[in-house]
Amino acid sequence: MSSEASKNGGSAESAVSSPPLQPTPFLLACQQQPAPHTPIWLMRQAGRFMHEYRAIRAQHSMLEMITTPELAAEVTLQPVNAFGMDAAIIFADILPPLIGMGLHLDFVPGKGPQFDNPLRSPQDIDRLAVPPAEETVLNNTLEAIRMVTAELTPRGIPLIGFAGAPFTLASYAIEGGGSKSYARCKALMYSEPTAWKHLMQKLVTVQADYLIKQARAGASALQVFDSWAGSALGQQDYNRYVRPHNSELFQRLQAAGVPVINFSAGTAPYIADVAACGGDVIGVDWRMPLDWFRARIGDDRAIQGNLDPIALLAPWPELRARIDDVLDRAAGQPGHIFNLGHGIVPTTPRDNVRRLVDYVHERTAV
Ligand code: CP3
Repeated sequence: MSSEASKNGGSAESAVSSPPLQPTPFLLACQQQPAPHTPIWLMRQAGRFMHEYRAIRAQHSMLEMITTPELAAEVTLQPVNAFGMDAAIIFADILPPLIGMGLHLDFVPGKGPQFDNPLRSPQDIDRLAVPPAEETVLNNTLEAIRMVTAELTPRGIPLIGFAGAPFTLASYAIEGGGSKSYARCKALMYSEPTAWKHLMQKLVTVQADYLIKQARAGASALQVFDSWAGSALGQQDYNRYVRPHNSELFQRLQAAGVPVINFSAGTAPYIADVAACGGDVIGVDWRMPLDWFRARIGDDRAIQGNLDPIALLAPWPELRARIDDVLDRAAGQPGHIFNLGHGIVPTTPRDNVRRLVDYVHERTAV
């Protein structure tokens, strides 16, 4: 991230360049600068733990909500308006980029996301399209970002854009849905290394384009979710089959001119390798204490995390002790963004979210 990078990112079509970074607590923390309080937002904050979300969702399918900019914008604003988080995250999903590439996505109630034409051969990978975001269903998300930032920028609240990392997307595209063993994905990776590389390169191209256009549409920061690399891969496979492609993605994202958050889960044993791929902020899961991650990431990047999302189901004294523990382990240097170590779960009591946000703000106010 630099003004140089942001200039380099300009193309004919980017006459509307990224707005200048406002010194909000969230963006100060991304840049490892002292902030008036520790900023907080929650992964999956726009979603089912809120009755306001469920009321809209009852009327519309998941894909309808993602592809109708007015609905996506409304749901994005709900948690920020209800709880005063320091950042919004655009309501979308990591999977729609695969629609533009030629896969048929459906969110099946009770089963999660499914593809009925998954990738099973090198020929399937050859056939994948690599269209620019605005020519696909993703254009609706770019429009939702423009609508949300028109509302949030005057209020001084940044919006986070996001996308999936290539491994996590490849796992859905090959398995055809969620997976426990990632057997088909890893079998293809091991037996067709050239096709694997080709697939990862196509995904990097699509995701870099989409993320940079989210920044141009108004997103103040970008988060890359590599949700499943850690549950699927050991260190050696990560370094061999994923790291070069994630490095390429983070390299290209410097052209967005906004801070980039590199989030993964289950990657604690090799978090230094994950961090080496890039990102201004490293998002860490809840499986090890925050200072343990900090020691392995180094002091030159901001860190985001890492309350266990299920701690939000605990009684307040227990929850508060765990919040204190995260804050204590982050203390001593600027550059901490408070978050969960993974997405908030639908059964989370609303009052605990309110208390969490207020407590982090009050305890860290300078
Ligand atoms: O964080 C936010 O509030 C923004 C919205 C957001 C959604 N999905 C909305 C959503 C974000 C950032 C995501 C990312 C996402 N999607 C990830 C990576 C994040 C992570 O947790 O690691 C993954 C793996 C997906 C894929 C996905 N989408 C799954 C596996 C599912 C079904 C499982 C589930 O939680 O229901 C979805 C559906 C989905 N995406 C929902 C929401 C709010 C639930 C849809 C519903 O209302 O039924």
